[in-house]
Amino acid sequence: MYLVEDKRKVTTHRLFQMKQEGKKIAMLTAYDYTTAQIVDAAGMDIILVGDSASNVMAGNMTTLPITLDQMIYHAKAVVRATQRALVVCDMPFGTYQVNPTEGVTNAIRIMKESHCDALKLEGGVEIIDTVKKILDAGIPVCGHLGLTPQSINKFGTYTVRAREKAEADKLVSDAHALEEAGCFAVVLEKIPALLAEQVTKELKIPVIGIGAGGGCDGQVLVVADMLGMSKDFSPKFLRRYADLNSIMLEAIGNYITDVKSGDFPNENEQY
Ligand code: KIV
Repeated sequence: MYLVEDKRKVTTHRLFQMKQEGKKIAMLTAYDYTTAQIVDAAGMDIILVGDSASNVMAGNMTTLPITLDQMIYHAKAVVRATQRALVVCDMPFGTYQVNPTEGVTNAIRIMKESHCDALKLEGGVEIIDTVKKILDAGIPVCGHLGLTPQSINKFGTYTVRAREKAEADKLVSDAHALEEAGCFAVVLEKIPALLAEQVTKELKIPVIGIGAGGGCDGQVLVVADMLGMSKDFSPKFLRRYADLNSIMLEAIGNYITDVKSGDFPNENEQY
């Protein structure tokens, strides 16, 4: 059962209209069928099959190790679960940076095999030819600027990006370049709120923020973080909407106790 009245499938066109009408866009990650069903049923506008699956699902330190096959596996599961939300899949590190031809080949593979609705790529002018080629193939692209986790080894830190004028100026021109190329949206990660607000006002396409303040057209979070499953990740921008870590620990602990005491299963729980 949906918690929103409008059950029509969300499209890139609808997201554009939402920006024009001043309606905020809600986006959340999901990587598996069961979670995506709940996220979709709650009325999410966009489900991101983020390469944060590398951290959240596989326990890697960064997003770099996740492969194309693994992203397709996650995206397929999410698409199967989703009726309303637009499903965006991250192109993983190494699948679009080499050259535009390789980028579009990998982009087509994700679309063909996962049936997702759109792709997200990290970077600005340095990947613009690849972005254009993917768009030319008819694939909607969402940009991602600011803290781009696939470049963590270059940054050397997960701290706020674009505080300095030169980096802020580059971010603004990158955002315009992505819009001019034809991207349907841009994600801005961990940048000053005033800069994100400026970009949001200057662009016609929706700007989705994560740690980029309330001036964006929408917000995105990692599902495990906002549900409080992860205990050791507490950036300033994160709001926890549940404490699933404690709830799951208690439930699983109770199950262990019941199994060990012989209380589970009882006679109504057997054939
Ligand atoms: O992979 C991801 O989860 C993301 C969001 C943080 C925007 O790219």
